[in-house]
Amino acid sequence: MMIGDSQSAPPQSMIRVLPRETAPMEHAGGEAVLEAKNVTVHYGHVTAVKCISMSIIRHSITAIIGPSGCGKSTLLRCFNRMNDLVPGFHLDGQVLYKGQDIYATEMDATEVRYQIGMVFQKPNPFPKSIYDNVAFGPRINGYRGDLHGVVRRSLERAALWDEVKDRLRQNALDLSGGQQQRLCIARALAVDPEVILMDEPAASLDPLATYRIEELMTELKRDYTIVIVTHNMQQAARISDSTNFLLNGELIESGPTGILFTRPSDKRTEDYITGRFG
Ligand SMILES: Nc1ncnc2c1ncn2[C@@H]1O[C@H](COP(=O)(O)OP(=O)(O)OP(=O)(O)O)[C@@H](O)[C@H]1O
Ligand SMILES: [Mg+2]
Repeated sequence: MMIGDSQSAPPQSMIRVLPRETAPMEHAGGEAVLEAKNVTVHYGHVTAVKCISMSIIRHSITAIIGPSGCGKSTLLRCFNRMNDLVPGFHLDGQVLYKGQDIYATEMDATEVRYQIGMVFQKPNPFPKSIYDNVAFGPRINGYRGDLHGVVRRSLERAALWDEVKDRLRQNALDLSGGQQQRLCIARALAVDPEVILMDEPAASLDPLATYRIEELMTELKRDYTIVIVTHNMQQAARISDSTNFLLNGELIESGPTGILFTRPSDKRTEDYITGRFG
């Protein structure tokens, strides 16, 4: 099989409905790519997220932590409209991607998701070959360029290429859990997103596979912006640049990771990070 040159230019954007040149939102820590503004989420009568405002800074890793049921996944999924089809879902407030409200009526949720990709807790490769998993998004988009090159570069960026380059036609379900998760990351990268949302991406992996995912995230932030939900406090402290602590749907504290974990300003944050609850 012909595979494109890995050194050539990165894949051209396949979908570019939201202009990249929209005026950036400046913040103390850098340029905010995504912003939640007074976001409240209901599922029917349940209020899952309460008036949260949060900025996601470009080329950084933002962690969202908090006890089970506090609204982490709900908030994360608001950033790429992944909750839209949940029965009873209702969002008040705004989610801005480069200044544009992704919930505005003219916005197409599918197109938003190409630019703001997602990786889930449990690796969920399609029951297809490794190659077809990565090629899936570009094919759906009708990509007419060097598909082999896109597949190779995506696998390289996900630090999986060397392990699978000789068996690209093998079923993805034959890979180990850690390899499957990196494949899912490669699949997300193949459509050239700008932001990657990760919901406990290492929760089902062993320590070595977890370490590889963490290492990978640190590398990916050079080219992408990452938001990660994690239950693992050490993981948030190791890899993230800023951390947001949620409790009962509220954002209790947010700030640079080094400060939040050593000098939290709220007693509830301190209690949580020192393991007193959750
Ligand atoms: N599809 C749904 N329908 C109704 N309520 C939901 C739905 N999904 C989540 N909730 C409720 O919203 C609240 C927040 O849930 P969410 O899954 O966002 O929490 P979480 O912080 O991600 O928890 P965990 O750490 O266990 O994954 C919870 O009270 C939950 O029961
Ligand atoms: Mg969750």
